[in-house]
Amino acid sequence: MSILVTGGAGYIGSATIKYLQSKGKEIVVVDNLQTGYRNSVDVDKFYKIDLRDMDSLDKVFKENEIEGVIHFAANSLVGVSMTDPYTYYDNNVYGTLCLLKTMMENDVKKIVFSSTAATYGEPKNIPILESDITNPTNPYGETKLTMEKMMKWFDYAYGIKYVSLRYFNAAGAHKSGEIGEAHNPETHLIPLILQVPLGQREYVSIFGDDYDTPDGTPIRDYIHVMDLADAHYLAYEHLVSGNDSDIFNLGSGTGFSVKEVIEIAREVTGHEIPAVVEARRAGDPAVLIASSAKIKDVLGWNPQYDDLKVIIEDAWRWHKNHPNGYDD
Ligand code: UFG
Repeated sequence: MSILVTGGAGYIGSATIKYLQSKGKEIVVVDNLQTGYRNSVDVDKFYKIDLRDMDSLDKVFKENEIEGVIHFAANSLVGVSMTDPYTYYDNNVYGTLCLLKTMMENDVKKIVFSSTAATYGEPKNIPILESDITNPTNPYGETKLTMEKMMKWFDYAYGIKYVSLRYFNAAGAHKSGEIGEAHNPETHLIPLILQVPLGQREYVSIFGDDYDTPDGTPIRDYIHVMDLADAHYLAYEHLVSGNDSDIFNLGSGTGFSVKEVIEIAREVTGHEIPAVVEARRAGDPAVLIASSAKIKDVLGWNPQYDDLKVIIEDAWRWHKNHPNGYDD
């Protein structure tokens, strides 16, 4: 029996596959390679297929013995979703609908889903609990919330069990330095900071220092991608053991400001990393910190790399080895 991983050639998908393989799991990957990289995964069963191509997707289910699905495939840029919601609804929501229909038709009834803190929108309380109000402030978060809700009703009607993992800020890289973050364009803070010591940019921009936080810059909850990978493994095993559907936050529970992240990157790289304060980026909440108590309690998740210095050291190893991502 195999696990079908959609979007397996992306940043979190490829890290999760490496981890699942270390646990002896057989993997089948479906990825349209719109943003993923074929050489980020070492698998024989790789299908370059878009989820909306249901005939081809159905063949993957028929050709392999699929036990369950881990679903990463989606567009995930908040800013782009604001100007191009059509693409986000089409790829994320319709793509997931096609996947769920194909699962139903092939009697596959377990799915772990890659969700996001963006489902909450501007939080009312910190740390954020799974029971807090979900009120996304952008189409990206809205499509992910819609996908979660689809799964809730597909469970009710057809018995497809799901675990949704709402990630906060994924960061870091595999310890080997061979798998890491490679987005084009890059929008995430840590890889952008590291482009300065790599000589790819002169300075890092700080998007606003007038937030209601101790140093005025936004605070985020950074979680190591390999701890995320472990959470997917535990969530999958939870479903295989016959448990019910559930939703979990996934963060470290500790917040760091943009200025603090830059300071730690200076320590790790030994580079002065100039920073320039610019205007706020639209839609950025001041503070996003997860309560991860529920996943620790229910799944026994226990993050191994919750020190931001270690997260940045691992990211730095990857970016130094691969300054041009998977094109090197
Ligand atoms: N930032 C800068 N300068 C930069 C880039 C980012 O100051 O050059 C700041 C942002 O304003 C933000 C923080 O760094 O305050 C983190 O920004 P990221 O873009 O790295 O991450 P986000 O918190 O915006 O996004 C993350 C996930 C999204 C998810 C979102 C939920 O990457 O997938 O949290 O709000 F949707």
